[in-house]
Amino acid sequence: MSTGTGRRFPDGFLWGSATASYQIEGAVKEGGRGPSSWDTFSHTPGKTLNGDTGDIAVDHYHRWQEDLGHIADLGLRAYRFSTAWPRVQPGGRGPANREGLDFYSRLVDGLLERGVKPVLTLYHWDLPQDLEDAGGWTARDTAYRFADYAELMARELGDRVDLWTTLNEPWCSAYLGYGSGVHAPGRADGAAALAAVHHLNLAHGLGLQAVRSVLPSARASVTLNLHVIRPADPSSDDDRDAARRVDALANRAFTGPMLSGTYPDDLLADTAHVTDWAFVRAGDAEIAHQPLDVLGVNYYSTGLVRRWDGVGPRSEDDGHGDAAGTPWVGADDVEFVRPDGPYTAMGWNIDPGGLTDLLLRMHREHPGLPMMITENGAAFADTVSPGGAVHDPLRVDYLARHLEATGQAIDQGADVRGYFAWSLLDNFEWSFGYDRRFGLIRVDYETLERTWKDSAHWYRDVVARNGLD
Ligand code: FCB
Repeated sequence: MSTGTGRRFPDGFLWGSATASYQIEGAVKEGGRGPSSWDTFSHTPGKTLNGDTGDIAVDHYHRWQEDLGHIADLGLRAYRFSTAWPRVQPGGRGPANREGLDFYSRLVDGLLERGVKPVLTLYHWDLPQDLEDAGGWTARDTAYRFADYAELMARELGDRVDLWTTLNEPWCSAYLGYGSGVHAPGRADGAAALAAVHHLNLAHGLGLQAVRSVLPSARASVTLNLHVIRPADPSSDDDRDAARRVDALANRAFTGPMLSGTYPDDLLADTAHVTDWAFVRAGDAEIAHQPLDVLGVNYYSTGLVRRWDGVGPRSEDDGHGDAAGTPWVGADDVEFVRPDGPYTAMGWNIDPGGLTDLLLRMHREHPGLPMMITENGAAFADTVSPGGAVHDPLRVDYLARHLEATGQAIDQGADVRGYFAWSLLDNFEWSFGYDRRFGLIRVDYETLERTWKDSAHWYRDVVARNGLD
């Protein structure tokens, strides 16, 4: 199969793949783990497709050694995973649970033994349920509890971790969790979503301060799902203003505080009818503004918006499923338009050029900040052929095009240091349950057997040659 452009990547380019704790581990009641907001949400009827939960997931908690073998066989230089806060602090506060720490300690050692760099994310959405009950991310205290947890992890794992990432996609935590309600905890309250945005920004800052209080030279990052939002009609002032508003909510609500130490004025003005932002205290945005060694960028697709004329039902097709509320808090006169295809099984449009644009924009606006693609990949309806192989040419094509798009951004000056394919394994895709498969490696959900898809074989070759064929 030829999918390449012959492109090579810079020496030392960090090739990896990514997973997240709740999506793969299972064993939700083992090892002293406490319940998380995602356990509660997925067990609530109607919240996930087919009522799927992460109770078993792909049983990585018991099969981690086999999974390390796949990571090594793929030749990955790095592995991005997340630690489950409720394994480490079952109730979200207090002393660490030794069994939880030991699990991640063994995993990190196993990676290092195989020459694979551990890229650790502290929070990929599984909030201890006790903290959710106390208000979750709408409560300021959660940010301080996160810092305590971050410090416990830094003390335990120390310099064995190559890169510490505070949060994965706080956009989803805040707006899908508290705004549209399609993610845990399933609330649909715009003001709560904006409070969550802020407390996540604060948690990022406090968390990094805590990690560096233990490990002064820790390398640090955060992973954002930065949105590429385009106006449906680029010549329309109204449509361009709709894109600006969504950009403020989606991107600058995080990059403002985290990268510049301030919230954008237009965001505060656009949402003034929803909240007065009184939860932002003096000095908070500066706390969120910690030095970063690299910015993690997750990228899947693009968005198209226009001014909604108020007539007829508003299209809210932003690709995140049926919602009780909207993630686009306060953007009452904005409508999402379905972009041109092709689409993945998520219904997300395939637009590699958006990745080039995004990397170049970040390079322009935040010069000197290295970036890494911490997630990129695609769900397709894979089938197993009679011989047992999984031919997934669409996934290979998707990955190849996005790698080429990354290379084009590098050619134009963007400092991109690595790429992590989402995902190592098929897994629990949040509200879509086990129905959407993103893995390079197929998981049979009956037997939990792992089988390399064609894309895994292809990716191993890409890693080995440091480029496309
Ligand atoms: C991202 C999440 C990741 C996975 C992919 C498909 O938003 O970070 O856990 O679900 O989407």
